[in-house]
Amino acid sequence: MTEKDFLPGAYQKLPDNGKLIWKAPSNIALVKYWGKKPVQIPANPSISFTLDACATTTSVLFEKKDSNDSYSFDLLFEGKPKDDFKPKIQTFLERIEMYLPFLKEYHFTIETSNSFPHSSGIASSASGMAALSLCLMDIEKKLNPTMDESLFHAKASYLARLGSGSACRSIKGSLVQWGKHANIPKSSDLYGIEYPFEINPVFKSYCDTILLVHKGQKQVSSTVGHQLMHGHPYAENRFQQAFSNLDKLKLILVSGDLEEFVMLVESEALTLHAMMMTSMPYFILMKPDTLKIINKIWEYREATKTPICFTLDAGANVHVLYPVSDKEKVQKFIKDELAEHCENGQYIHDQVGSGAIKINT
Ligand code: DP6
Repeated sequence: MTEKDFLPGAYQKLPDNGKLIWKAPSNIALVKYWGKKPVQIPANPSISFTLDACATTTSVLFEKKDSNDSYSFDLLFEGKPKDDFKPKIQTFLERIEMYLPFLKEYHFTIETSNSFPHSSGIASSASGMAALSLCLMDIEKKLNPTMDESLFHAKASYLARLGSGSACRSIKGSLVQWGKHANIPKSSDLYGIEYPFEINPVFKSYCDTILLVHKGQKQVSSTVGHQLMHGHPYAENRFQQAFSNLDKLKLILVSGDLEEFVMLVESEALTLHAMMMTSMPYFILMKPDTLKIINKIWEYREATKTPICFTLDAGANVHVLYPVSDKEKVQKFIKDELAEHCENGQYIHDQVGSGAIKINT
């Protein structure tokens, strides 16, 4: 599908009002998206596990208004007005207006809440933008009821990408790939697709425990971080590496070779942080406890031969990944050994999920 496929056809009569609720999951990238071109086009392809427990629920109440010359919306986060999110939503609406031309016809009341603790340091932009895009797409579906499921999901992902790149991987499950790759049919820079190849069952129920090492504001936003890849001395090599890691991962995802999986996933996480350490300006987003956790994971893996590994986002929190068959012993290890490195001992057990769902109103 191309941009043109997402331009709307003729609408039937606009409804006067309505309310929609969608719950969209967070996702964790195995091959990372880091670096982009305007507008929200990734410099390299990425792939992620869709999560289950970590999710954002968003309701959108829409009411027809008299004039259609500007956007009008109220934003509530966990029940309270959240004006500092408004500019991001405003930019998002401006970017998507040509694809959803009814936006200025309505006043929207957008209410959003996360399943994970407030200010946990977990980015909610992926799940938040995905949930909002799905609500808006559902309004479009009322105007164009014959729209098919695959267009609905691709366009929701397309819109979500315009809000936050990684959000386009939070619509479907269990593994979502985003970014054009010659060896992945139907892959696109414009939206995420359900991974089209065979997936060994071990990965369909993979566990991810998120260790909340540092819950404060990130030192650098992802948006700023992506910009630092422009003119970065290692950027070209890094982008090529991501392409080739997707090829390698394809074999691993079929074979279920967890030793190879561990190496690829950890290398991706450390490369992401290496890019931040070698950009100008440079950043260290890991905290001392991040490193202590990584070392303990390596020692535990060595001693017990359990295939656990870590991955990181652009922050200090650690995602511990492991097969569900090792759940009991790994979760005991996390409780006994890793929890002490988390802020207030907090962590969240999650696992691979199956994508966003509509909540009946
Ligand atoms: C490190 O999707 O948050 O999590 O497109 O600017 O909103 P924007 O960036 P964002 O970047 C996520 C980067 C990452 C890696 C990943 O999820 O692939």
